[in-house]
Amino acid sequence: MSTQNKSSRKTILDIKKMKELGEKITVLTAYDYMTSSILDECGIDIILVGDSLGNVVLGYDTTLPVTMEDMMHHTKAVSRAAQNSLVIGDMPFLSYQISPELALANAGRFLQEAGAQGVKLEGGRESAEIVRKITSAGIPVMAHIGLTPQSIHQLGGFKVQGRKEDAAIKIIEDARILEEAGAFSIVLELVPEKLAQQISQNLTIPTIGIGAGIYCDGQVLVINDMLGMFDKFTPKHVKKYANLNAEIRKAVNTYITDVKNCSFPDSEHSFK
Ligand code: KIV
Repeated sequence: MSTQNKSSRKTILDIKKMKELGEKITVLTAYDYMTSSILDECGIDIILVGDSLGNVVLGYDTTLPVTMEDMMHHTKAVSRAAQNSLVIGDMPFLSYQISPELALANAGRFLQEAGAQGVKLEGGRESAEIVRKITSAGIPVMAHIGLTPQSIHQLGGFKVQGRKEDAAIKIIEDARILEEAGAFSIVLELVPEKLAQQISQNLTIPTIGIGAGIYCDGQVLVINDMLGMFDKFTPKHVKKYANLNAEIRKAVNTYITDVKNCSFPDSEHSFK
C-alpha cells in the first residue's frame, strides 16, 4: 500500500514558507459546509472555524457561551467541504484554561473527531504551557493575542490593545514566548499597525492580523462581516466586500410578493 501523501491541502509548513517568501496569507472564518466549500474552491489558505460562531451564527452577545460540542458540530461541517485549505478549529472558553491535560484532550478532539488540522487558542504568556503541551502531541496551534474576545470582561470592551508603551512591550514579549512555545502562527487582533509591524519583523512564524494593519504576514476577517450580512454597524477594521444583507432582503421581499400575488410558481417552475 502506498503511503505517499497525495493531498493538495495546505500544511503549516506551506504557511510558514509563505512568510519566508513574502507571500500574504489569506484566512477567513466559516461555520458551515456550503461556505467552506466556496472558500476552499476560491483558494483561501486557512479556514478558521472561529468561536465568533457564538456571535454571528448562534446569536450570543459574546463568545463565552460557545461550547466544545458547538465547535465540534460546526468544525465537522467545515471539514467535510475543505479539500485544500488548512482547517483550524477555535478552542472555546474554558476548553483549554483549566489544565494542560484537558486542553490537550480537547485539542485532540478537533483533529480526531472534527477533521481539523490544527487549533487556535487565546492568550499570551499565560497560555504558553498549554501551547507547549498541545504542540508536543503533534497538534499545530495558532495563538491569538491583542484583543482576546474570551477575556472581554477583563479587558473592559472591544478596544485597541497595546497603545501604551508598557502594554505594547508585553504584547511583543508574549508573541516571542508563544513562538518559543511552538505556535505555528499568531493572530494579532486590534493592535496599532506599527506594533503589529514590529511583532511581525521579530518573529519567524507568521502573524495574521485582524484590525492590525497592513504589515502582518496575513489577514483574517469574519466571513459574515466581510460579506455584509450584518447591517447595524461596521467596525473600523472590517471592509465589506459585498452587501448580502441587502441582497437577501431584496430576494426574500420579492419572493413574498411573488407568492402573495400568485406569480410563483409559474409554468417554468411547475411540472406537467
Ligand atoms: O473567532 C474568530 O472568528 C476569531 C477571529 C476573528 C480571529 O478569533
